Amino acid sequence: MRITSALVDPALIDLPWSIPLEQWPADQLVALPQGISRHVVRFVRLGGTVYAVKETRERIAEREYDLLRALERLGAPAVEAIAIVADRVDELEPVLVTRHLQFSLPYRALFSHTLRPQTLDRLLDALAALLVRLHLLGFFWGDCSLSNTLFRRDAGAFAAYLVDAETGALHLRLSNGQRDEDLEIARTNIFGEALDLQAAGLLHESIDPEHVSDDVVRRYEILWHELTHEQAVLASGTTDSRRQIDKRIRRLNELGFDVEEVAMSIVEDGGERRVTLRPKVVDAGHHTRRLLRLTGLDAEENQARALLNDLDAYRAESDIPDEAQAAHRWLTEVFEPVIRAVPPHLRGKLEPPELFVQVIGHRWQLSESAGRDVGLAPAVQSFLADVLVHRPDEQAILGFDPEEV
Ligand SMILES: Nc1ncnc2c1ncn2[C@@H]1O[C@H](COP(=O)(O)OP(=O)(O)OP(=O)(O)O)[C@@H](O)[C@H]1O
Ligand SMILES: [Mg+2]
Repeated sequence: MRITSALVDPALIDLPWSIPLEQWPADQLVALPQGISRHVVRFVRLGGTVYAVKETRERIAEREYDLLRALERLGAPAVEAIAIVADRVDELEPVLVTRHLQFSLPYRALFSHTLRPQTLDRLLDALAALLVRLHLLGFFWGDCSLSNTLFRRDAGAFAAYLVDAETGALHLRLSNGQRDEDLEIARTNIFGEALDLQAAGLLHESIDPEHVSDDVVRRYEILWHELTHEQAVLASGTTDSRRQIDKRIRRLNELGFDVEEVAMSIVEDGGERRVTLRPKVVDAGHHTRRLLRLTGLDAEENQARALLNDLDAYRAESDIPDEAQAAHRWLTEVFEPVIRAVPPHLRGKLEPPELFVQVIGHRWQLSESAGRDVGLAPAVQSFLADVLVHRPDEQAILGFDPEEV
């Protein structure tokens, strides 16, 4: 047996590698929701960490391992590759070990609560944004589908992660043809999945499967255009053109993307001067990065945006001009007390940033109906007692059966 690993967890060696994954004893496994797959996939807990173990063919395991590692270096939203275990006895197939993505939900688990059309919209937005982000990095997925994606809650929206990179390829830059091909694959896959959901009675009756798949492509095209289109501006060097550039960059930041540079080109056309600008968008995560820098908190993009709003409001109220100092005070005096108020048995229900975001939303609702601000502490108590206890566990390491939810 041979283990190739980026992070050697010695406990990995003790797993029952001489038995086919399908026959691993139940006491080694964690029952967690998972998507549909050709290969056998199981979850195991070692120490405090849960891993996903997938039996696959050797060349594929290596390829996927390398690609996931490369995506990680680029900061792409994807599951993290941990190890390959090959040369097992009796010619058992090699396995790829990835870290289980905490609080993630495969789409089947989401659909089992008869999904409302608005929720579906958000899932499709998240999937389209994931494909855009991967394409910006030069990654051709080759098998984009709902079952190859994991979703995490993100302040009323979803953040999507790639889980299956088996068919992918990383290029310096993708051509339009490559992007189109990837989109067509996504369209076909998602259409098939939506048909399956419909057949299983899980698709809302107002939703048409063909519309679902076309919609992902449409959302992708809109976002791609927004991020990359060349824009005509008035004339270079004027205040107006500077304002236009600023506006474009702010708009891209609002969408969560950072701009690395702006290329301007100037064309003299029959005495008329035309200036165009094209931003080089790097990656999403604008708010995530600002929050991380200020507070050390790691949150999804929309969560980060909501937390930053709260932080900015706190800073204005408490009149602390220094951003870093305000952030530190907010973290220790506002954020952390809310998280600490959650009793241990409820901690697996929502991860801390999501919990905080939902608490602020709850406070707003209570205040609206009371006609005055109810304050943070009562809002926390009411959220714990009236909302959180009724929620399913999503921490995943605790394990839950989505069918029961
Ligand atoms: N690291 C992980 N964290 C959470 N879930 C995971 C992880 N790895 C795999 N899964 C679950 O296992 C399922 C199957 O994984 P994957 O898509 O890699 O298998 P596959 O057999 O290669 O799929 P395909 O049939 O598309 O080739 C996923 O849909 C996901 O639900
Ligand atoms: Mg898959």
